Parts: sequence; C-alpha cells; structure tokens
Amino acid sequence: MKALQCIELGGPEKLKVNEIEDPVIAPEHVIIDLKAASINFPDVLMIQGLYQFQPPLPFTPGGESAGVITEVGEGVEGYKVGDKVLSASMIGGIAEKLLAHHSTLRPIPEDMDYEIAAALSVTYGTSLYALKQRANLQPGETLLVLGASGGVGLATVQLGKAMGANVIAAASTQEKVDICLSNGADKAFVYPSGDLSREEQKELSNKIKELTGGRGPNVIYDPVGGSYAEPCLRSIAWEGRYLVIGFAAGADQIPKMPLNLTLLKGCQIVGVFWGAWVGMFPDENKKNFEELFKLYSEGKIDPTPSDRFSLESSSDAIAHLMNRKAKGKVIVSID
Ligand SMILES: NC(=O)c1ccc[n+]([C@@H]2O[C@H](COP(=O)([O-])OP(=O)(O)OC[C@H]3O[C@@H](n4cnc5c(N)ncnc54)[C@H](OP(=O)(O)O)[C@@H]3O)[C@@H](O)[C@H]2O)c1
Repeated sequence: MKALQCIELGGPEKLKVNEIEDPVIAPEHVIIDLKAASINFPDVLMIQGLYQFQPPLPFTPGGESAGVITEVGEGVEGYKVGDKVLSASMIGGIAEKLLAHHSTLRPIPEDMDYEIAAALSVTYGTSLYALKQRANLQPGETLLVLGASGGVGLATVQLGKAMGANVIAAASTQEKVDICLSNGADKAFVYPSGDLSREEQKELSNKIKELTGGRGPNVIYDPVGGSYAEPCLRSIAWEGRYLVIGFAAGADQIPKMPLNLTLLKGCQIVGVFWGAWVGMFPDENKKNFEELFKLYSEGKIDPTPSDRFSLESSSDAIAHLMNRKAKGKVIVSID
C-alpha cells in the first residue's frame, strides 16, 4: 500500500510517500480501507519530534481518518466488515490502509461522508470537551476564540454558537476573520502576527474590553499561547475561565502567567488535554460524540474541509497547516 512516511525527524519536506507492506490483522484491531484523513497541529509537532507522544521511526503520520472496515481481529465486538468508521488513531491515517485498535473507532452516521467524518474527531472532540466539561460554558456568556479560523478554532466558533454563547473570533488576517464571521461568530477582529510588543499587547487587551462593553469574555479559548496569552487573561471577566488548549505560536514561547491576575479576576486557568480524558473516561467521550453527531445532523456544526490534498501531495497538507495557511480543516483524500 501507499503511505506517507516520516523516516527522519524534521519539516514536511523530509516526508516521503512510499510503497510499504500492507498491515496484518491483530487481536483487538480492525483493518480499514481509508478514504480520507485530516491534518491536525500534533502531526506538525510529531514529525519534528516535538509532541508529547513520539512514535518510533519510521512512522506514518495522520491522527484521524475514516474509511471502511475490511478485516476484523479476534476480540473485537460491535464492528464487522463493511462498516463505515472513523478512527482517532494518533498516527497511521495518511495511508491507503490502517490497522486501528477498536477503542479508537466510532461508526459514521448514515448522513455523513468520509471527509466530514475524518475532520470531526480531534477538533470538535477537543472543543466540545473544553467548552462543556472544562469551562461549563453557559448560554448568554461571551466566548473569545484565538486562532479562530484554525482547526480547533473554527470548531469552537461553531460549538460556542450552538451552545448559545456570544462568540468573538480573533485571527491574524482579514480573510481569516471573514471565515469566522461566515461560520457564525458574532464579532471578529484581526490581531497582529508574531511576538507582540508591550504596546500591541496593551492594544489587544483594550480591544477585547471594548468589544465586550468593558466586562471581558467569560471564557477564553487559547490554542495559540505565545505573547497573546497574558493580554487576553488581563481582559477576562470576573469568574472567567481561561482554556489552555495548545501552543501553536511555538513550544519555546509557552506563556508564564502572573498569578495575581487569577486573584484579581476571581478567574480560573483551566488545562485541556482531550486525548488523556478520552483514555480515562471513554463513556463520557462516547456521549460527547453522540452530541456532536446530533449537532451535525441538525446543521449546527459543519466541519466542511477548506483545503484538500491527495495522498501523493500529503506532505504539502502538513506544510500548509504548519505555515499558518489553514482555514478550517485540511483534508487528504485517499481514493
Ligand atoms: N489540548 C488538546 O487536547 C488539544 C487537542 C487538539 C489540538 N490541540 C492544540 O491546539 C493547537 C491548534 O491546533 P489546530 O490543529 O487547530 O492547528 P491550526 O489549524 O494550525 O490552528 C492553529 C492556529 O494558531 C494560529 N497561530 C499563531 N501562531 C502560529 C504559528 N506560529 N504557527 C501556526 N499557527 C499559528 C493560527 O491562526 P492565526 O494565523 O489566525 O493566528 C492558526 O490558525 C495546537 O497547539 C494543538 O497541539 C490541543
């Protein structure tokens, strides 16, 4: 079969599409004939050796994918050959076939196509867990989303609206801001790119206060980190919840917050690690997925891919995300 391979750690230019052995069925696993995969920031980190989970070399990137089961291993219950499934497998998804543990699978609803299914797990799974279980977002509250046109960002804009929040989206270009507005954001603004100066940080804080009538957002969703974090926390509402999602601005720029801000605002800084929670509470995660599928069939969320690549050009798909060009979900079509 054909698969994208990371043979040595480094940038996307080091990845190669190679012909490799087909996977062999194993107990508790299924083999999936893949139709689509989607790219997430952890793929960018993993190929460079910068992610918290690091597979041995060589490996095939691709943390979420969808297709049809062609073989079922011993000890797998509830799945059969021919079932349409999505898999949140961490690796292996950018290939023609995937050996996936049954715990990573979920049946795809009848009304959902493979690309949508491949785009749903990581971003919407993370964002629903963040807004519901971690922030306890309430209807009528104000939600500020940073990096709002990216994968988890756009999912959060849509989920925030579906949960009845007033959503303010922030992104680095007018084009990205327009995408957030067309995905339901109530307000949106452009923030400067890169490492913000003291003056730019103050302006960011003031802009957020201005857009919230001086009260500040109740919940801030931050997948970016860097120098955006502190001015955003400075703008948060009384008893606000600041969701720490990720550090797209760079692992060398993980923000360090003055703790007096939590005292002054009566606010919480809340860590979000969806993958760990899924491992510890699979039944809760299953309920969240049922909710996501319902929201999708009601038309309240729409993980429509914005950029598509073939398996042959899948290293470009990872580069696209890495170079801050993604607007929504980046998909690899594998047909
Ligand atoms: N905690 C969890 O459980 C969990 C789960 C999934 C993902 N994550 C994390 O969430 C973050 C976002 O993931 P994603 O898949 O949504 O990525 P993505 O689609 O690339 O979105 C990230 C956004 O961050 C912004 N950004 C700011 N500085 C950047 C830089 N130097 N390079 C790239 N992007 C930059 C970009 O928006 P602007 O250009 O508008 O600033 C971009 O749209 C990652 O750190 C990822 O590891 C965490």
